[in-house]
Amino acid sequence: MDINLIYFLIFFFPISFCDCIKFYNYTLYRGIPVDAKHLEYFQNLTEVEYVNFWRLPGRLFKPVDLVVDPEHKELFLKEANNLGLYITTLIEDVQKAFDKQSVKQYIRRKMESFDWNDYYRLNDIYEWLRDLANTYPTEMKVNTIGRSHENREILAVEITLKGSKMRSKVIVEGGIHAREWISPAFVTYFINELIHAPYSNDTEFKDIAMTYEWFFVPVLNPDGYEYSHTNNRMWRKNRNQMGSVDLNRNFDHAFGTTGVSFRMSSDTFCGLRAFSEPESQAMASFIESKSQQLEYYFAFHSYGQYMIMPYANLKAHVENFDTVYKMCSEAKTKIAEKYNTAYTIGTAFDTVGYMTSGVSGCWVKAKLRVPYVVTFELRDSGYHGFSLPPEKIRPTCLETMDGVLSLLKPRTKTYARLEGKYNYDSGVTTNRQIT
Ligand SMILES: *[C@@H]1O[C@H](CO)[C@@H](O)[C@H](O)[C@H]1NC(C)=O
Ligand SMILES: *[C@@H]1O[C@H](CO)[C@@H](O)[C@H](O)[C@H]1NC(C)=O
Ligand SMILES: [Zn+2]
Repeated sequence: MDINLIYFLIFFFPISFCDCIKFYNYTLYRGIPVDAKHLEYFQNLTEVEYVNFWRLPGRLFKPVDLVVDPEHKELFLKEANNLGLYITTLIEDVQKAFDKQSVKQYIRRKMESFDWNDYYRLNDIYEWLRDLANTYPTEMKVNTIGRSHENREILAVEITLKGSKMRSKVIVEGGIHAREWISPAFVTYFINELIHAPYSNDTEFKDIAMTYEWFFVPVLNPDGYEYSHTNNRMWRKNRNQMGSVDLNRNFDHAFGTTGVSFRMSSDTFCGLRAFSEPESQAMASFIESKSQQLEYYFAFHSYGQYMIMPYANLKAHVENFDTVYKMCSEAKTKIAEKYNTAYTIGTAFDTVGYMTSGVSGCWVKAKLRVPYVVTFELRDSGYHGFSLPPEKIRPTCLETMDGVLSLLKPRTKTYARLEGKYNYDSGVTTNRQIT
C-alpha cells in the first residue's frame, strides 16, 4: 500500500485504533458472605486480575458485587458453590448495559443541548459550564484550580447570587471516581438549579440559595473520567503512569492505615504518600483557600444509596455524629418522597461495611473543622450499578436535590462551627459542636 495512503488512514481514522476494552459476556454477580470463609474468599479475589469489584467485601451480611470475565465465570461459580456461598446474577452482560448509557454532545452556546437525559464527555461539561458562566457573569465564575497528570484542567465553579447573605460556604465535590458517571451529572444539575434559583417560585429553595457562597468541583478526576469514556468503562482511579491512584484514599487523613492497598494495580491503591497526586493536591489547596466559614462539604459517588458520615477510618461515632445523623434522617425522608428511593445512613463501617482512610471528606472535617460533611453514594442499590441507564439520571438528580436542600436548611442564625481539635490517636474529641 502507498505510504501516503497509510498516513492518511491513520490520521483520519484514529478511531479504528482505539483500544477500548469491551465487556461482552462479563457478568456482574452479587454474593452475600454469611461466614468468615466467604469473606476470606472474596478478600482473596481482590488480588486476582479477572475480577473487578463494584462493591468491596467488608463485613458479614453486606453484599459484595463483582464483575467476572467470561473465561473465569465457571471457575468462580464452582468455587463459590463449594464454599456454600450463594451467588445471584445482577447483570448478565455488562457491556450491553454500558452500551445503553448514551453519551450526548453539547452544542456550544445552545444551553438546552445540555440536559440530564444523557451523559457527557469532559469537554462538553466544561464548555457548558463556561457558557453558563458567560450567561450569568456576575453570579457565576469558572476557575482552574489545578491540572491533572495528563494536564487536563480541574475546574471549580463559584456561585454567589445577587443579594446573597453569604453567611457561610458550601463545597460540592464530584467525579473523584472515574466510572461513577452519575456524580458529575448530579453536580452539574445542582449548579443549574442554583443559578436559576432567583427565578424559582419555591421560596424555601430560593432562601437556601441566597444563604451561602457556593463552590463546585464537578470532575475532580478529569483524566480518569475521560479514560472511562474512551478506554475502560470500569476505570476508577486517576491516570498516574507510575501507578494510578485512588484519589479518595490519597488525602492526608489517617493515610494508608485501613481499607487501602499498596499494590499499584489495585483499585484502592492509595499512593506512596498523602497528597502525592496533583488532583488531590489541587483540591486540598482549593478547600483550604475557602476554609473560612466553610460549613458544608458534600462529595458525590455511586452506588449504593448511602449517606456516609465521617470518619471512614473509625467504628466509633464521634464529634457531632448525632447532630449530622439527625439531619441525614430528615434528608432521607425527603429523598424517599418522590420515588421511594431508600437510603441508609452511617459511617463507612456502618453502611458499606468496611473502613477506609485518606478520604477527602474526613480530611476536611478533621483538619478544617467543617461541621457538616456528608458523602453520598447515589443510585442505585446494584440493579444497574455503574451502568445506571440515562433515563434514571433526572429522577436521581431530582430526589438527591431534595435531600441536599434538606441538609442545607439553616438550623442556626449564624455559621455553626465545630470546636475542638480532632484527636488523631482515637478520633475522639472531647468538645462537642458549639454553635
Ligand atoms: C457469551 O456466552 C454465551 C454462553 O456461554 C455464548 O453462547 C456466547 O457466544 C457468548 N458471546 C460472546 C460475544 O462471547
Ligand atoms: C485464600 O488464600 C489463601 C492463601 O492463598 C488460602 O490459603 C486460603 O485457603 C484462601 N481462602 C479461601 C476461602 O479460598
Ligand atoms: Zn466513589
